[in-house]
Formats: sequence, C-alpha cells, structure tokens
Amino acid sequence: MALIAGNWKMYKGPAEAAEFCLRLREQDLGGVDVVVCPPYVSLAVCVQLLAGTEVAVAAQNVHWEQEGAYTGEVSAAMLLELGVYGAIVGHSERRQYFGDTDGTSAERARAALSAGLFVIACVGETEEEREGGVTEDVLRRQVSLLEPDDNLVIAYEPVWAIGTGKTATPDMAQEAHALIKSVLDVPVIYGGSVKPDNAEELLARPHVDGALVGGASLELDSFIAICRAGASTNS
Ligand code: PGA
Repeated sequence: MALIAGNWKMYKGPAEAAEFCLRLREQDLGGVDVVVCPPYVSLAVCVQLLAGTEVAVAAQNVHWEQEGAYTGEVSAAMLLELGVYGAIVGHSERRQYFGDTDGTSAERARAALSAGLFVIACVGETEEEREGGVTEDVLRRQVSLLEPDDNLVIAYEPVWAIGTGKTATPDMAQEAHALIKSVLDVPVIYGGSVKPDNAEELLARPHVDGALVGGASLELDSFIAICRAGASTNS
C-alpha cells in the first residue's frame, strides 16, 4: 500500500495543526497509509485529534539517547509517551542547517527503531553530487549505514528537488529507488516537490512506494489530492 507522509517542517503551531486535523479526519483516505509530521509543539494535539483514525502522527526528528544533557533534543521514549507513532530522521534540512551527518542520522534511526518507533530515514544526493556523477556512491554510502527493520522506510529525497519545484523525473526516481532497494530491501518513498499534478506519475512507477510531501502537505486540498493519487496507483 502506498504511504503518503506530510512533512510540515516549521509550519503549523497547535491551533493551525488542530484545524487541519479536524478537517483531515473527515476525509475518506481508503487504500493509502497516511502520516502527518508536525513540529514538536503540535504533536500532542495531532495525536489527540487523529486518535481512532487511520492517520498516524510522526515527529520530524528524534535523538539517539533516551535522556540526557542534549539541549533542544527529544528522545524516542518521550515521543512514545506522547502517543507518537514514528519519526523522520536525516532530513536534508537537518543535515544542511543543523549538522546532522550520515552517521548521526543512522544513530537516530537505530535508536528510534529499537525503541519501537516507525522511521522514515531520508537519503539523497545534492545537485553538485548528481552533476559530479556520484549519486550512486552517495546513496550506497547513506543507505548502507541503516539496518533492515520492518518499521523502516527510506525516503529518497534528492536535495536539489526539495522546495525548489524541480522534481526528479519518474525515471530518475525509479532508478534511485531500485538502487536503494538493492542495498536494503525496505519500502522507498520519494520526496522533493511532489505536487498533485506530478504525484500520480511518480507513484505509478515500480519501486516508488509512496511520497514524502513538504510544501504541498500544508494545504488540505493538495495533500488529499496526493493521497488520492497514492490510492489510485496502489502498488
Ligand atoms: P517539498 O519538501 O515537497 O516542499 O519539496 C519535501 C521534503 O522536504 O520532505
């Protein structure tokens, strides 16, 4: 079944998140797994309002220790206590602005999975890396640090496609997903400027098991349109 995850990034405080969830839970999302990833402060209200629905709630990051002197960080145990289902790790914005590396991203994934969270681990090459012909090496390096787990999904997010309106072509996505799966046999979802008008074509490709949606997940109508595209192309 396709997985459609909405990464809200640093948008939607608790009031706006509540409004979105109240409308989301009225929707018929049959045939697709849906996850929303609000900022930490909006997790509780989303967990509360989406309880009993098929929509899961995940955080955008998680630390590898259970507790400790790590100012600004949140552990898997804390997320589980709140009723949160999963977490994104290794998003390229974490790597670009907050010093996350392949190593720390893998540590975050390992700790979250062993605590029992569902994990969306992001990998992807920069524009420079693609132009330099090293996409395959980069993906192999990032993926080989992750361990197989039933609760692990990899998001292939070419960095040059995130928030830029430049989407990987379906062929590029399919090729990258096949490579990732040859290293680690887990579901692979695509992220990077997924919109209602390109979702269906991407999701119809073999090896594209869903989408991680940023900008287009913030408006209910566009998010629902992408969920419906996932339902109609169910792989
Ligand atoms: P975008 O973001 O859909 O706005 O490109 C995707 C992501 O960062 O996960």
